Formats: sequence, structure tokens, C-alpha cells
Amino acid sequence: MARNHPIYPHFTVFEGLDGSGTTTQAQFLTERFRAAGRSCIATQEPTSGPTGTCVRSVLAGTHQVTAGTTAYLFAADRYEHLYGQEGILAHLECGTPVICDRYVFSSLAYQGISCGLDFVLRLNQDFPFPARVFFLDLPVSECVKRLDSREAREIYESEQALLQIAEGYRQAMQVAREAGVSVHVLDATRPREQLAADVWNQIDGTVPE
Ligand code: TYD
Repeated sequence: MARNHPIYPHFTVFEGLDGSGTTTQAQFLTERFRAAGRSCIATQEPTSGPTGTCVRSVLAGTHQVTAGTTAYLFAADRYEHLYGQEGILAHLECGTPVICDRYVFSSLAYQGISCGLDFVLRLNQDFPFPARVFFLDLPVSECVKRLDSREAREIYESEQALLQIAEGYRQAMQVAREAGVSVHVLDATRPREQLAADVWNQIDGTVPE
């Protein structure tokens, strides 16, 4: 399938299974940017906007929709996130670094398992790609342990679903590589401070000032 994903050098994404620590590492990186006196935008998907709120209610199981609708909802949330007011693209066009906790690759991995990769790729086919993705690689058994300590479970947070999503991520990272994205796979069983240091070493000097 023809794919057209412009790559933005200031754009960094964190991906991984639920419980792998994407939010923590995105926050650490944001702090490192700011401590180095550099501005950056920290953001996440699903967003807190109207479509993102709808997505959250599907994730919580409050509303049930077909798998295809879920994929459309994530893509719609992403469209607004990119092109809406104060959207990612406006920041990237100005050269401001953007750090995003989850992006297209989550859709490929999570929605791909029930809708098929090609269906999800089609919905996301014209969206820009980041220059780099940090994939936090954590065994499913460890993710489940970490999720057990949380209060509520979302629809994808079962061992059976995570095993399928882990396979989905292998395909999603392949799509990223083929599109020219630098994929950094990190062993997420390591202490989070060490991971953050590795991330910063990869970033420092590569993200244009
Ligand atoms: P996240 O905010 O990382 O989880 P948490 O509930 O711990 O804050 O992500 C929410 C869930 O949404 C997570 O299970 C991954 C899923 N997701 C998709 O299924 N598709 C997507 O495109 C995105 C961005 C997230």
C-alpha cells in the first residue's frame, strides 16, 4: 500500500505495552529538555479533547463500539491532535520539539489485532511520522504484574490481549523502520532512571536545536 508519512526531526514518540512505562519516560525526557533550557511540547494519545474523551469511555468499557469504530475514533483523535488548534503540526513546523506518549504505532499494534494492519494503516496513512520512536520492551508477564497494582483495568489490559498486542507491536515497529523512523528498543525491566539516561543520550545532539 502506498504510504506517505513525512518525517519530522523534532518529533519523538514513546511506545510500549500497558504498564511498560511510556508515560514515565515521556515525562523524564520532558524534564531533561526543560532542565537543559530547551522548550518542548509534551503531549499524549488518547488526548484530553472531545474525541479523546470518547475514546477513554470506550477503553473503560463504559461505551461499547465495534473494533473498526474504535480504530476510527483513535484516528479522529489523532487528526485533531495534529491539525487542530495548538496541534502538534503547528509546533513541529515552528521547530519546537514534541514528545508524544503513544501515537500511530499504538493504533497499529492495538487496533491492528482486531481490524488488521492494513485497515489501520489506511486510516493513518497520511499522518506525519516522528524521527524516532522509543519502544519500551517489557515481557507481558511483567506488564500484568504492574497492572495488577492499578485500581481499574481497561479493555486491553488482560494477559491474553497483551500477548497479541506484543506481536502487533513487532509489525508496527517494522512499519516504522520501513518508513525511515529510528526505532530504539529499550529493555524496560531496567531501572527507570537508567532508561531515561539512555533516552537522553540518544536524543541529545540529534534533535535539532
Ligand atoms: P495510556 O494513556 O498509555 O494508558 P493509561 O490508562 O495507563 O493512562 O493508553 C491508553 C490505552 O489506549 C492503552 O491501552 C493503549 C490504547 N491505545 C490504543 O489502543 N490505540 C491508540 O492509537 C492509542 C494512542 C492508545
